[in-house]
Amino acid sequence: MTSHLASTHAELLAARGASSPVAVVMTMGALHEGHATLIREARAVVGRSGFVIVTNFVNPTQFGAGEDFDRYPRTLDRDLEVSELAGADVMFAPSVEEMYGTDRLDLLGDQVMVDPGSLGDILDGLSRPGHFKGMLTIVGKFLHLTAPDYAFFGEKDYQQLALITSMVKSLRFPVSVIGVPTVREDDGLAMSSRNRYLSAQERKVAALVPRAIHVAAEVAAQDGARAGERAGIALLADHPEISLDYLVVTNPELGEAVPGEGRVLIAVRLGTTRLIDNIACRVGGKS
Ligand code: PAF
Repeated sequence: MTSHLASTHAELLAARGASSPVAVVMTMGALHEGHATLIREARAVVGRSGFVIVTNFVNPTQFGAGEDFDRYPRTLDRDLEVSELAGADVMFAPSVEEMYGTDRLDLLGDQVMVDPGSLGDILDGLSRPGHFKGMLTIVGKFLHLTAPDYAFFGEKDYQQLALITSMVKSLRFPVSVIGVPTVREDDGLAMSSRNRYLSAQERKVAALVPRAIHVAAEVAAQDGARAGERAGIALLADHPEISLDYLVVTNPELGEAVPGEGRVLIAVRLGTTRLIDNIACRVGGKS
């Protein structure tokens, strides 16, 4: 299985050779069916002669103080199996030193980083200050080092996808960003590496998160964005174990909802686990 692994940029370039086109799927490891779907999509787009890179790096700069950087699941052997089975050619799993030029985590904040702009100041940007700056910085580094034709990201992290799309446009990265629909468990919960933090009881309750956004979407289609938000929030009101961060109905670009296409987004905390989700919706008459 080690032939499928590159730890340095030099090893990655050697594995890639002159293959074309190239697709990248960026991950922090702990791969699940959602990641496997991204890898299969990437393979389908580049074809058998193309080259699919999966990055695997728990990026320290996108975790805030007190967040789960230390306990984030690290499952490299299993990740190698999942990515190879899904059709990847190589997993690029570099060290912090390879990506940042130092392994001193306390020095990383002083480095040149990507400013997300105002789109990074709302929703998760408010609850997780610095998260998007660290995320865009590592995505920019990986785009630079992997030089792909296509980059695949899950729609589950909708604000992240919007920010990456915006960065690629602003910084003129020559890559097509492709968003892939969220993969869900049988009860609707969006797949996430963090779901494994949930206790059995929390896991049951977590099914209310996708239900809340579906209710919000249904009501928003009839009665407008604010009514949709109220209905989704009301569904969670009887469950004090769910601490709501936000449930909002926006337009597809995360601005003010207007009649037409929209997006419902939610973030909650369940015990020590933060869950996010979103779906497309229609926004009806009286927003
Ligand atoms: O979505 C993720 O797993 C991460 O934010 C990403 C895009 C791999 C950057 O570290």
